[in-house]
Amino acid sequence: MKNIAVLTSGGDSPGMNAAIRAVVRKGLYHQLNVFGVYRGYQGLIENDLKEMKVHSVADIIQRGGTILYTARSEEFRTPEGQRKAVDNLKNNGIEGLIVIGGDGSFRGSMELAKLGIRVIGIPGTIDNDIPGTDQTIGFDTAVNTVISLIDKIRDTASSHDRTFIVEVMGRSAGDIAVRAGLAGGAESIIIPERDFDYDDITDRLMKGHNRGKKHSIIIVAEGIGSGEAIAERIKQSTGLDTRVTVLGHVQRGGSPTAYDRWLASLMGGKAVDLLLNNQSGLMVSIVNQNIVGVPFEQAFSEKPKIDLDAYELSKILSI
Ligand code: F6P
Repeated sequence: MKNIAVLTSGGDSPGMNAAIRAVVRKGLYHQLNVFGVYRGYQGLIENDLKEMKVHSVADIIQRGGTILYTARSEEFRTPEGQRKAVDNLKNNGIEGLIVIGGDGSFRGSMELAKLGIRVIGIPGTIDNDIPGTDQTIGFDTAVNTVISLIDKIRDTASSHDRTFIVEVMGRSAGDIAVRAGLAGGAESIIIPERDFDYDDITDRLMKGHNRGKKHSIIIVAEGIGSGEAIAERIKQSTGLDTRVTVLGHVQRGGSPTAYDRWLASLMGGKAVDLLLNNQSGLMVSIVNQNIVGVPFEQAFSEKPKIDLDAYELSKILSI
């Protein structure tokens, strides 16, 4: 193998740049030519790529976002789009592709693998919603961002004796809510993986309030519905002074934490090793602190990997 390419796809996540850097520099170390594809699969369809050198990835390990830009390509979902992408790869002599993204991106990778391209995935999404890996690149940074914001909200919440509903990201997963909720001491956590009971939440709120608690924070994962609607119902049944903060895309930005830079570097290096070993159709994962390759199919497992023990514990701790 002489030529490989790397792209980022789907929602960006802090640490993607560190992964790109690792792929480029590990590839160059092994005498490969490494191409960066712009705007994910859309760039592949439009042949928008550039050869990368050591300096192309200088000074990016600490930067959020992705220097290769990203996109969610509708055209790539069609057989014609996939064919164009493969033709461009082949015309450029590229035999191996590394895709940094989420499970939707890996479904696209599987199609390319079927058409004869060797593809390795690296899980990058703040949602941490990919089974088959203990953690995804960007999740740790997003959780730290959420915690720093919860701390700020607590200051004003306690000054005013208010209940805050804080809506966090997670398209269909409650991982950010659970990790940040437990670490941030939230009074309640509402996630799509568990039914929730308004009566239980309002009971707990009122018990705290009657004991003299000056404020409460309820974390809602966006995947279960709007924080506004939940806040309205809580306000009506408790009469508490309630406010809503939707954290939104601030969770996707910012300088990656040490953990995310470390994880991204190890995963980027491993992805190149797997291609050099003629492997394909694998996602790089961290499993019990080991960096391994697992079949893409594991990333599509229906079983949510959310830490429900942490979710249950948070209810005990946040009395
Ligand atoms: O998948 C990451 C994510 O940030 C989700 O948490 C969120 O639902 C979605 O992307 C938002 O996507 P967009 O940036 O396209 O609005």
